[in-house]
Amino acid sequence: MTHRSGRHFLQIPGPTNVPDRVLRAIDRPTMDHRGPDFALLGMEVLEGLKQVFKTQSPVVIYPASGTGAWEAALVNTLSPGDRVLMAETGQFAALWQKLATRLGLVVDFIPGDWRHGVDPAAVEAKLSEDKQQAIKAVCVVHNETSTGVTSRIALVRKAIDRAAHPALFMVDTISSLGSIDYRHDEWGVDVTVAGSQKGLMLPPGLSFNAVGDKALAASRIAKLPRSYWSWDEMLASNKTGYFPYTPATNLLYGLQEALRMLMEEGLDNVFARHGRHGEATRRAVRAWGLEILCLNPDEYSNALTAVLLPAGHDADKVRQIILERFDMSLGTGLGKMQGKVFRIGHLGDFNDLTLAGTLCGVEMGLQLAGVPIRREGVAAALEHLASAGSQQAANPARVRLA
Ligand SMILES: Cc1ncc(COP(=O)(O)O)c(C=O)c1O
Repeated sequence: MTHRSGRHFLQIPGPTNVPDRVLRAIDRPTMDHRGPDFALLGMEVLEGLKQVFKTQSPVVIYPASGTGAWEAALVNTLSPGDRVLMAETGQFAALWQKLATRLGLVVDFIPGDWRHGVDPAAVEAKLSEDKQQAIKAVCVVHNETSTGVTSRIALVRKAIDRAAHPALFMVDTISSLGSIDYRHDEWGVDVTVAGSQKGLMLPPGLSFNAVGDKALAASRIAKLPRSYWSWDEMLASNKTGYFPYTPATNLLYGLQEALRMLMEEGLDNVFARHGRHGEATRRAVRAWGLEILCLNPDEYSNALTAVLLPAGHDADKVRQIILERFDMSLGTGLGKMQGKVFRIGHLGDFNDLTLAGTLCGVEMGLQLAGVPIRREGVAAALEHLASAGSQQAANPARVRLA
C-alpha cells in the first residue's frame, strides 16, 4: 500500500462521507448504557428521529444494517404464509422480496423494467382483484438505490385507499431519509424502514423502524417467530430512553450529532440542496451525451444518478480508471445493471464543490476510458449551480448574519 495524498472521494450512494462533527461525536468514551446519562442521549435521539421521519409514532433503533430493519418490519407484523405485494423497482426491491420469501411469506412481485418507480395503478389493480383481502402488506422501496428512481409514495398510498384495501403499507427509505422529502404520518405509512449510512451521514450499523398504530396492533397478533427484532420490549425500554439489549452507544453519539446538524440546516433546506445537486448532475449527464437510467422525470432521484453507458462500454472499467487515477469510488451497477451503469452518489454531507470535484473526476474518467462524450458535462453542472434560479446559501445561518 502506498499513501495517497488528498481526500478520497466516496461518491457511492451510501455509505456516504461522514462529517467531522459526527466523527468527533463518535470518538468519545463509551458510557454505561444503564446509567443516568444514557437516558438523556436515548431520549434525544428517539425524539429527534420522529422529526426526520415526520411522525408522532415511535421509531425503533436497531444495531444492524438496513437489511435487519427490513426483516424486523416483516416479522413483527406478519404470519407464516401471509401474502405480500411488492414491486420490482430494482435490486433492493428484489432483495427485500427474497428476504420475505425466505421468511415464509408469499410474495406477489409486480414486474418492473428497473427504469421506473412503483406504478400506483398496478398496485390499485392488484389490491382491487384481492376480494378476499388475502394481501396483508404492500412493501415498496422509496428510493431505489440500484437505479436512481424515486417512487411516489403519496400516490401509492392513494392507490391503496382507492382500492379500499386494509393491507399494511411498508416503505424502505434507506437511501432517501434525510435526503428526499418523506412523510410517514401524512402518507399513511405503517412501517418505515431506514438506515444510518446514507442521508443521516453516519457510518453503517444502525437501522430503524418507524412504527404506526396499525402496525403496532398487527404486531400483537402476528405469528412469525421473532425475539431480537421484537418491537414490544424495545418500545417498553425506549419509553425511559433505554434499550433492552446493549445499544451501539458510540453510533448513537453520532446520531445525536447528525440529527442536530439536520435540524440546524433545516429539513427543507436539506431537501432543496439535494434537489439542486441532483439537477446539476442530470444536466452534466445530458451534456456528456449519456443517458440517465431513470426514464420518468417525475421520478428522478435527488440522492443518486445512475448513468447508462453506450453498448460496448464497460461501466466497471470506467469506475476502475476513476478509482486508480482520481481516488474516487463510484457505485457499481447492481444485479442486471452490472457493467451497464455506474452510479454517482450526491447525498448526505455534500456541497457544490464536492459535486464539482465528483463530476470533474467522472468527466476525466469517461474520457480516459474512451467513452464517446462531449466534454461539456462539468460546465453544464457549474452553470446550473451558479445560476440565480438555483442559488441557495451554502450555510443559511451564516448568510443571515452577514
Ligand atoms: C434502498 C435500500 N434498501 C436496502 C438496503 C440494504 O441495506 P444494508 O446494506 O444496510 O443492509 C440498501 C443498501 O444500500 C438500500 O439502498
